[in-house]
Amino acid sequence: MTQSASVRLEGIVKRHGTFTALHGIDLDIRPGEFFALLGPSGSGKTTTLRILAGLESVDAGRVLIDGTDVTATEPGSRDVAMVFQSYALYPHMNVGQNIGFPLKMIGTAPAQIEKAVQDAAAKVAISHLLDRKPGQLSGGQQQRCALARAIVRQPRLFLLDEPLSNLDAKLRLETRAELRKLQRSLGVTAVYVTHDQEEAMTIADRMAVFMEGRIVQVGTPHEIFRKPATATVAAFIGTPPMNLLPAVLADGHVRIGDELLPPPPGAGGGGGMEHREVILGVRPGDLRLGTTGIPARVEFVEDFGDSSIVNLEAAGQRVKLRAGELPAVREGEAVRLSFDPAATHLFDRATGNRI
Ligand SMILES: Nc1ncnc2c1ncn2[C@@H]1O[C@H](COP(=O)(O)OP(=O)(O)OP(=O)(O)O)[C@@H](O)[C@H]1O
Ligand SMILES: [Mg+2]
Repeated sequence: MTQSASVRLEGIVKRHGTFTALHGIDLDIRPGEFFALLGPSGSGKTTTLRILAGLESVDAGRVLIDGTDVTATEPGSRDVAMVFQSYALYPHMNVGQNIGFPLKMIGTAPAQIEKAVQDAAAKVAISHLLDRKPGQLSGGQQQRCALARAIVRQPRLFLLDEPLSNLDAKLRLETRAELRKLQRSLGVTAVYVTHDQEEAMTIADRMAVFMEGRIVQVGTPHEIFRKPATATVAAFIGTPPMNLLPAVLADGHVRIGDELLPPPPGAGGGGGMEHREVILGVRPGDLRLGTTGIPARVEFVEDFGDSSIVNLEAAGQRVKLRAGELPAVREGEAVRLSFDPAATHLFDRATGNRI
């Protein structure tokens, strides 16, 4: 039976020369969770995963798997399996030999390897391909082969670094769903690195958002979408992401240009006399076209058939509005934008933190 591991990172610091890749990462991952590490390129996701795998040393902090300090433990003794973006299959071995390789390395008996390979291959539906060489497989089949090789040892912890990024869009969607099912059926803890927010949103139980070597928010996809902790997170989540407009919070109002709006519930509505530079966030789906509200100009419209995105200029910014039906607007037309104050988000302009 596969057991699922808990993972804990405490104050992990990683430096490359004078450059600090990770500035003190703290993280708790629960047994059986599908946990995503999400963030833009260079934010430290792969570094964190490699530290978990034991492929990278740390400059400070501790790594605990199931409560045991493994910071100094060799990769081979951590009972984890890793799948990389490049599948790193051995080209001269056939699929069966590739899948069985981790077991051969630890001296498992051939008959036992054979059985384990059959089982793993069946789980990812490549039983009919065992005699082929990796070069004779499609990208999706290679990806499954890499997955089978990872699960053959029945690890406690499954580490995946952008494992779907070499697949085309359609196959990626299908494989994403299968991967999720596979993880559930194995009951294994999975840590999944991606820079694709939509992928993280749809696949993860919880996720950590990385920015510049720091975790800025941890939560369920729903929590992070509903309440982004900073303007940077808000600008990273959603398709398209949240619109961010410079505004001023004064006398209990949010002012954008000449427009005075009520603030979101719970954000500075006390009517204090403070004058604070803020950022007002509104999701594209929460904006309405009309005759009242913030003045804007239509730039162009993207028509997706069942929905459309209207690109506008407002308050000196590019703003995106999502509409169900194609709205009757012309390029260059002057319009106004309104929204429910309850659906807005407020961030401090200096710190970027949610108010
Ligand atoms: N060996 C190294 N020497 C110097 N800098 C490094 C080294 N490895 C990684 N870095 C730097 O550490 C930072 C984090 O890298 P990391 O690979 O973890 O990013 P990432 O979040 O996985 O990005 P991506 O989405 O592009 O894969 C980057 O700025 C990278 O340039
Ligand atoms: Mg990476």
